Amino acid sequence: MEELTVIAAVANAAGQQVRMGCWLHGKRSSGKIQFLQLRDGTGYIQGVLVKSETTPETWEAAQKLTQESSLYVTGTVREEPRSPSGYELTVTGIEIIQLTEDYPITPKEHGVDFLMDRRHLWLRTPKQRAVLIVRAEIIRSIQQFFDERGFTLVDPPLLTPSSCEGTTNLFHTKYFDEDAYLTQSGQLYMEAAAMALGKVYSFGPTFRAEKSKTRRHLIEFWMIEPEMAFVDHEQSLRVQEQFVSYVVDNVLARCRPELDTLGRNVAKLEAIKGPFPRITYDEAIATLQREGHEIAWGEDFGAPHETALAAAYDRPLFITNYPTAIKAFYMKPDPTRPEVVLCADMIAPEGYGEIIGGSQRIDDPELLAERFEEHELSVEAYQWYLDLRKYGTVPHSGFGLGLERTVAWICGLDHVRETIPFPRTLYRLYP
Ligand code: 4AD
Ligand code: MG
Repeated sequence: MEELTVIAAVANAAGQQVRMGCWLHGKRSSGKIQFLQLRDGTGYIQGVLVKSETTPETWEAAQKLTQESSLYVTGTVREEPRSPSGYELTVTGIEIIQLTEDYPITPKEHGVDFLMDRRHLWLRTPKQRAVLIVRAEIIRSIQQFFDERGFTLVDPPLLTPSSCEGTTNLFHTKYFDEDAYLTQSGQLYMEAAAMALGKVYSFGPTFRAEKSKTRRHLIEFWMIEPEMAFVDHEQSLRVQEQFVSYVVDNVLARCRPELDTLGRNVAKLEAIKGPFPRITYDEAIATLQREGHEIAWGEDFGAPHETALAAAYDRPLFITNYPTAIKAFYMKPDPTRPEVVLCADMIAPEGYGEIIGGSQRIDDPELLAERFEEHELSVEAYQWYLDLRKYGTVPHSGFGLGLERTVAWICGLDHVRETIPFPRTLYRLYP
């Protein structure tokens, strides 16, 4: 096939004749002039046909085009200061690939279920496209952040013999004659990797059979899990605030057009600079009680609590030192106060909730053995994990960032279902 020019690169072809592969996004006509809104995935450009200056075949082909018809278009790229991209195309030829009939997603308003059933087509709209571009930039800058700081990317397994974050939300499957579970978190394996490579991070899908139908929960979501040997809780918090500020900065620098398409208030993102505010779990409980919430020390926060606490700040908030009893078995107790652990959740501003959960890990083999008993965990299933404390244990810390919640926050979306191409939610496995 001959080389096509892509819309994203028309600036290099000003004044030249080009050929492009496109879909018709929309069109307008004034009788003597037709305006075609063309898209090719890389961007949008307006194609202009003046009846008196176009061949009858080309004029008629343009008239036939329907929404989402596919075509090859030839024309001359013209600078046009009034167009958002700065360019227009004077159309000289149209080769229709397919005329689309009854395209279901029209410019009128559709309900979310209607759109989710047609997610494979919904992705073509400017807003959904912008989200996927921002998501890709977030992924790219996450990898760049860790790669530039001496972390090695390590891939933990997805099929596991046991659980990491509690046993209630596990997806069960058969592994030949054995039972297996889809991973909820790669953390325990990343601890092994940190003992081999020092600083590591994973980036992969995780699965939680959570019966939660909220705007923050997916069944399948992507997590970034750094794990760092010889790094304590305090140092880990500093990595987290640098990390999140870095990602936001990159999106601001590279995705302005997409943030504009999404109508995102960028001033809110520009405020995201470290250090991030911190409050302890104790302070959080006291604040909530003062504000009239019914919550007692020892209870976990729900989404409304997180939103209320974060509302006082214009940047992400760390809530530190949760009660040992409500956190995972592997978290290291505060040496001065063993009823709380050296952990923190990072709560995004503007009501987006927890985006990071992290902690220093228990490095003492005896304490870990005690926790295994309390949590009734199988020593046999986790022998390999206990080995890490037997053969050269060291202080270490890590955390997990939920990609989709981060994308929802940065894009300003009110639901995580739009942050991933094909969301898996409580009642949706199609398309
Ligand atoms: O707080 P979580 O459960 O932490 C862990 O899994 C640790 N093992 C991470 C670690 O220390 N290596 O999950 C981490 C993050 C949450 O803060 C949230 O952003 C996201 O994962 N998350 C979800 N995102 C979408 N849908 C769900 N059902 C999620 N559950 C957690
Ligand atoms: Mg958590």
